[in-house]
Amino acid sequence: MSRLPIIAGNWKMNNTVKETKALLTELLPLVKDAACEIVICVPYTSIAAAKKLMRGTNVKLGAENVHWAEKGAFTGEISADMLKELKVAYVIIGHSERRQYFGETDETVNKRVKAALSRKLKPIICVGETLAERESGRTDEVVIGQTKGAFDGIAKRELKNIVIAYEPVWAIGTGRTATADDADNTIAVIRKAVKKLYGSAAAEDIRIQYGGSMNAKNADELMAKPNIDGGLIGGASLKAVDFAKIVSAAK
Ligand code: PGA
Repeated sequence: MSRLPIIAGNWKMNNTVKETKALLTELLPLVKDAACEIVICVPYTSIAAAKKLMRGTNVKLGAENVHWAEKGAFTGEISADMLKELKVAYVIIGHSERRQYFGETDETVNKRVKAALSRKLKPIICVGETLAERESGRTDEVVIGQTKGAFDGIAKRELKNIVIAYEPVWAIGTGRTATADDADNTIAVIRKAVKKLYGSAAAEDIRIQYGGSMNAKNADELMAKPNIDGGLIGGASLKAVDFAKIVSAAK
């Protein structure tokens, strides 16, 4: 298997510019010899400062959302061109918090993915079931539906530029992690959905992360699973030492 693991931090609405500088100054030396790809997704206001500190390092810059329109009357939104100009490489799309609190749907996720790809930003597409969906046995149906929705109209050649993050909603920020086996099984279901859309080679190649209370303690077990190609890390990405430990679990 030749998939390079990818560990991405999702800072969410945390860290002022001053805090961004302090955290990255501590973190960057700790992860400089990593055997995986590393991305830190920061709030828009921290992008410029983060980029400056990341220059010449092995850490890539990510944003946490992008609008689908090129420009226009969308107060409070940020376009793909704006992110590209600031040399952002990755962008999280369809995070469950966006779906839950900001009305994100499979359709808007798909539009954002297309906008990102059109400007050569690499989407990290989030999918995952809620607790109610899991308890009613609908996990597979939900993640398959979200995957199909996100990839609607996306050309096969773009797949190498896309990462999927499987994040069970009930595990995000709750301290409750999916068991490594459950995470691996659901990621296998997502991989199968990609196979159905794009064929076996594409499904074998696409990187799928786990996210949801992944931390320094459980990273080794999760990363040992054959289908798990990395992590999307929220809370633990705010502590340099913890994030570095997760990075070292990804080989
Ligand atoms: P968490 O968040 O690691 O704090 O659970 C993960 C995410 O929401 O991306």
